[in-house]
Amino acid sequence: MSIERELSEYLAKTARSRALHEDALAVMPGGNSRTTTFFDPYPFYIGRGQGAHVIDADGNDRIDFNGNYTSLVLGHATPEVVKAAQEAAALGMSFPGPTDHEIRLAEMLTRRIPSLQHVRFTNSGTEATMNAVRVARAFTGRTKIAKFEGAFHGTHDNVLVSVAPDPKVAGGRRRPKPVPSSEGIPSAVLKNVIVLPWNDADACEETLEREAGNLAALLVDPLLGIGGIIAPADGFLQRLRAVTERHGILLIFDEVISFRIAWGGAQERFGVRADLTTLGKIIGGGLPVGAFGGRPDIMAAYDPRRGAARISHGGTFNANPVTMAAGIATLNALTPEAYVRLDALGERLRGGVSRLLDATRRRGQVSGVGSLFCLHWTSSPLTDYRSSRPKDPHAPLRVFLALLNEGVLLTQRGMGACSLAMADEDIDRFVNALARVLSRE
Ligand SMILES: Cc1ncc(COP(=O)(O)O)c(C=O)c1O
Repeated sequence: MSIERELSEYLAKTARSRALHEDALAVMPGGNSRTTTFFDPYPFYIGRGQGAHVIDADGNDRIDFNGNYTSLVLGHATPEVVKAAQEAAALGMSFPGPTDHEIRLAEMLTRRIPSLQHVRFTNSGTEATMNAVRVARAFTGRTKIAKFEGAFHGTHDNVLVSVAPDPKVAGGRRRPKPVPSSEGIPSAVLKNVIVLPWNDADACEETLEREAGNLAALLVDPLLGIGGIIAPADGFLQRLRAVTERHGILLIFDEVISFRIAWGGAQERFGVRADLTTLGKIIGGGLPVGAFGGRPDIMAAYDPRRGAARISHGGTFNANPVTMAAGIATLNALTPEAYVRLDALGERLRGGVSRLLDATRRRGQVSGVGSLFCLHWTSSPLTDYRSSRPKDPHAPLRVFLALLNEGVLLTQRGMGACSLAMADEDIDRFVNALARVLSRE
């Protein structure tokens, strides 16, 4: 598979998208509002989604394993979610006051995640992790936070650190250095972020103990989601829980992605109780959303009764009724049986891809948990961010483009998610499309 061949096929299929991108270039930098969705020479513009499919401006129909970066667990335009959002919207899009929808969604979430006793809504996962970090600092009186190399937690300064660093500038594997993942991150921020290696419990414990007196929180995506869906080794999260508890460091589970792996999210699946949890993506049914919460004694900083709250958290669209209604409809559809089905879809896909890679003797593997998966173009045992880096750095984008040409949408880094709109045949279509792509390599 040559990138030139894949690009020329892509260009031939997407003339209308190219024209739209020309329009966009006049009014947006690079024609773009969302770093993650852009790829050269231009992204395809999406006209509509239905079930497991997205149809672009040129009429190309693709089966969607991206699902708006794992948000659309039911698929596109699910009738009951559309109906709930339409009914809420018909009564008013947003108000300068609360509605009962937010109570009902909060009840559903707190029932599913026992550690999430009190919760607040935001408009994005970014705002959720930003607030979780802020409240952890306020509660502990400490300044530093720890996060994992390769972990993405949104786009505020504190977490745009060591998201996908070049190991050549990122220090040793056991004690990674904080590397800014964007321009504009003040060096003062970097001084307050400790970076840890995923799945190395001894190294993490050592660093956390050394820094304990300064550490407000350890921020953990239990799947290292954007870093490649690398499951925690047995006992790893428990070790993190124990050391943070010993030292009064708040354990924040960022479940923006991982909430979809079980009825009660990663905390249920891995048997760990966090102090604070952040959520997003699926809980808004496809609309902008985030949430954060946890122990009532910590969340009390947001309690506005008897004078001002100690932490300010306004937000014109926080807990808007349309998002809340879509979230409720989505969670209602996510019954225990739905998770059995999601797991089965994920297992079918991982099994099919593994067999294909074995049969074709490719240097690659597939990781994942539940309905989530990620293709990796390396044969190193996958343990952390560094081990998941592809031997050929262009391989993920080449495969992404080639799959687009085959009618399959993934994320550019190879991460994907199965949705309840998919049938077994859709999973087999993915595996067959990948087989055709690899046969061109
Ligand atoms: C684990 C995790 N946390 C936070 C975020 C940020 O969420 P949002 O894009 O809604 O700001 C993401 C987004 O992909 C994420 O994967």
